[in-house]
Amino acid sequence: MSLSRIGQSVAESATLKLNMVAGNLKAKGEPVIHLGGGEPKGKAPMDALIGAAGVIGSGEVRYTPAAGIPALRDAIVGYTERFYDYGVKRENVIASGGAKQAIMVCLQAILDPADEVVFPCPYWVSYPEMVKLCGARPVAVRPADGTFYPRLSDIEKAVTPKTKAVIINSPNNPTGAMYSESFIADIVGFCEKKDLFLIMDDIYHRLIFDGLKPVSSFRFIGKEFDSSKLVVVNGVSKQYAMTGFRIGWAVGGVELIRAMTNIQAHQTSGPSVVLQHAALGALNSDQSQVDNLRETLDNNRKVMMEQLNTFDGIKASRPDGTFYCFIDFSKFDKDSTRLAHFLLEKVKVVTVPGVEFGTDGFLRLSTCGSIKDITQGIERIRWALDPGGSSELTIGDQKLIRDWK
Ligand SMILES: Cc1ncc(COP(=O)(O)O)c(C=O)c1O
Repeated sequence: MSLSRIGQSVAESATLKLNMVAGNLKAKGEPVIHLGGGEPKGKAPMDALIGAAGVIGSGEVRYTPAAGIPALRDAIVGYTERFYDYGVKRENVIASGGAKQAIMVCLQAILDPADEVVFPCPYWVSYPEMVKLCGARPVAVRPADGTFYPRLSDIEKAVTPKTKAVIINSPNNPTGAMYSESFIADIVGFCEKKDLFLIMDDIYHRLIFDGLKPVSSFRFIGKEFDSSKLVVVNGVSKQYAMTGFRIGWAVGGVELIRAMTNIQAHQTSGPSVVLQHAALGALNSDQSQVDNLRETLDNNRKVMMEQLNTFDGIKASRPDGTFYCFIDFSKFDKDSTRLAHFLLEKVKVVTVPGVEFGTDGFLRLSTCGSIKDITQGIERIRWALDPGGSSELTIGDQKLIRDWK
């Protein structure tokens, strides 16, 4: 088949594929533990459900303006004021089909073929593919000091005359590392000096622990927002446990938002009116669910770290936020895809191979399941990787027999 170069080059989404594999195994009655998940298990806020139900009940389910309904854009202005302490106007906001679409239309609005986009490694799986979808070149930068915390010098070294944009995701998927305020200040200043777009992917910004406070990149711009090239992306998926509602947004200069809106208008039109009203409900809700989710995730993180700290052979660093731990399993297998398949086949635990995030030898383990999932999942992995352990492990009504060394 004569597919386009882009059609041939863009990879399947590893995380969505794993969800499918796990779902199929579960449907067959297999006792699968999903430690690969990227979505909180809680329910969406009641105000979100009421918002959606109101539109459905009215029977008037129509197109909306391409950048979203005014009420939702205004609520995002309010969110920016409340959680970033920064004033923007409705024209600075676009609501999209998830943060994913917001990032995608932003890249389409700013990239020409052969432009380069720099981001720290490990990175969210979609950045390289999204950049490639624009015909541009992804440039992943590994922190020189071997940590999960990039420094400005790492980014500086990767910037060339072809660089058009930098993407920063903090706290980070997959590492859970939250970058320091001074790094964010540096990167905002650097991008401004070099006239680069800076896309801040803040989708996990309120899911942080240990008393950390979200960092507002807006604070560090040195010019009028409309002439700055800072774009801040966020959404309802993670913080409100609303992944299936598919509403995210971007806050940027008026000219950029106008171009993004034109692109979105031809791609998908505005997001579904039902889901926009759900997002509006979530943003206007009392926010207690975000606090509850943060507490649950913090507790799950503690349990996960307790389990991992007694796991010989791995290297685990404590995440500052998100619901991920990014663990070095290279002592067991440097090929993370092979290791993830082995764990799924032998002990029915889903993990995400680090190579998908640009870092082989690691596995991403998620803390968004139950405490039981975490403890039993790690117990199974430990058993699978311990050749000196017992020859049998009982899970549910199944007995696993070790038939490997
Ligand atoms: C870093 C990062 N950015 C963006 C997204 C996309 O979020 P949404 O569901 O709003 O499209 C994800 C989802 O996994 C993510 O991990």
